[in-house]
Amino acid sequence: MERTFLMVKPDGVERGLIGQVINRIENRGFHMVAIKMLRISQELAEEQYAEHAGKPFFHEMLSFMTSGPVVAMVWEGPGVIQSVRRLMGATDPAQAEPGTIRGDMGTSISRNVVHGSDSRAAAEREINLFFNDSELPG
Ligand code: TYD
Ligand code: MG
Repeated sequence: MERTFLMVKPDGVERGLIGQVINRIENRGFHMVAIKMLRISQELAEEQYAEHAGKPFFHEMLSFMTSGPVVAMVWEGPGVIQSVRRLMGATDPAQAEPGTIRGDMGTSISRNVVHGSDSRAAAEREINLFFNDSELPG
């Protein structure tokens, strides 16, 4: 069964959008199999976003991602990785289609409410960064 990693970023938590994000994915028929609220450390943020190290927005993004609590989740279902990416919409809310999470709720390219894995390899890596085996169903 396919799994993906989804996070409500600090802007989404602060603005009270956790429930709406969860609703949209549940409405699509996927199942949440793990969830936790946490404050990300600098080290964890650097690891999560390692592919972006050195990019112009990297430093500011890390300071935003560590600025307040986030909600980390694992979702399961057929095709869940790409389906969740489509439900999220484009990275920049100004470009994201209406009806997507970012298109409806995002306020800027950095404050775009959610993070979601973009491939099977990323999903596996990110799930294991945030959850122990004992926190995940077999
Ligand atoms: P990216 O992996 O390109 O987008 P996505 O989240 O859709 O996979 O970028 C990761 C995050 O970095 C993005 O969600 C927000 C932040 N970011 C910026 O702050 N400024 C930028 O110009 C870009 C490209 C990303
Ligand atoms: Mg990405």
